[in-house]
Amino acid sequence: MHIICIFVPKFSLLNETIPTEIRFINVTKKCIIMGNDLLKGKRGIIFGALNDMSIAWKVAERAVEEGAIITLSNTPLAVRMGTTNELSEKLNAKLIPADATSVSDLENVFKESMEALGGKIDFVLHSIGMSPNVRKKRTYDDLDYDMLTSTIDISAISFHKMLQVAKKMDAINEYGSVVALSYMAAQRTVFGYNDMADAKSMLESIARSFGYIYGREHNVRVNTISQSPTPTTAGSGVKNMDGLLDYSERMSPLGNATAAECADYCVVMFSDLTRKVTMQNLLHDGGFSSMAMSYRVMEQYNKSFEEFKDENGKIIYG
Ligand SMILES: NC(=O)c1ccc[n+]([C@@H]2O[C@H](COP(=O)([O-])OP(=O)(O)OC[C@H]3O[C@@H](n4cnc5c(N)ncnc54)[C@H](O)[C@@H]3O)[C@@H](O)[C@H]2O)c1
Repeated sequence: MHIICIFVPKFSLLNETIPTEIRFINVTKKCIIMGNDLLKGKRGIIFGALNDMSIAWKVAERAVEEGAIITLSNTPLAVRMGTTNELSEKLNAKLIPADATSVSDLENVFKESMEALGGKIDFVLHSIGMSPNVRKKRTYDDLDYDMLTSTIDISAISFHKMLQVAKKMDAINEYGSVVALSYMAAQRTVFGYNDMADAKSMLESIARSFGYIYGREHNVRVNTISQSPTPTTAGSGVKNMDGLLDYSERMSPLGNATAAECADYCVVMFSDLTRKVTMQNLLHDGGFSSMAMSYRVMEQYNKSFEEFKDENGKIIYG
């Protein structure tokens, strides 16, 4: 991304007699953000942009900024309740409502996208997650199994359905790239992440299993990006999200990765710069996953012992 700054004089005529330093105080700075054409000529489908906090929203904007043409998809309910229509108008991207658990809906998304974009697809983003158990505050040792089935269907099997539909329709070009968004709770237990952890484990496994077949037969790449906790609508459903955000920010040497930074990473994964990357779970977490303790977390951790010290300053664990 280039940021070009233009200094526009506020005066219509710059009086040569005005000292240089004063002339430069009276200017307006205008910055225009331009892409690098990393996705020039590519066609993409972005699933899961609900509102301007959604990771998919940022990915859609960045993909278009990099020269791609795209379609958008979300559930009919999300289209009614969210602001995806605004994004569709802003990016001139056709919005195709679909429930990603429905094979026929997905077939329609690929069909309509190829018609609207004028050819086969080069990249797909699966940015979909939802747990009815989390919504209904059912804890992991008191799961409702119908809801668990729903969590897995929406958050993981939909990825398999998307890939299977695309492959059967031969809808993705050679070296096309399919990315789904995951979270580290797939490997390590995170308090409150609940049955979404099981869904994310399966999501990452689907990327490997389907990635093998799709790569072998059509050179299509399939990866997951494991993103830092991010303040979005889905993110806010996670128990104690504020605490989780603060903890991972303190633990990560580079801090939490934002939704906009995730969009940058997705663009690289959609581009021709990563043609031999497939079947990977790519960690985009500011270094969090390689840390066990940071100075900033230790500082915070020590504070919690204050109330357990006796009059001699000795820690009593109770
Ligand atoms: N926010 C975080 O902290 C975080 C961290 C790592 C990974 N992720 C993952 O990123 C992805 C995007 O989430 P987000 O944080 O941008 O939140 P978000 O709420 O903006 O996006 C979730 C999307 O899933 C869509 N969705 C739900 N059920 C669907 C269905 N049946 N069919 C089609 N779409 C459906 C929703 O309408 C919504 O647009 C999810 O997979 C999420 O698990 C989020």
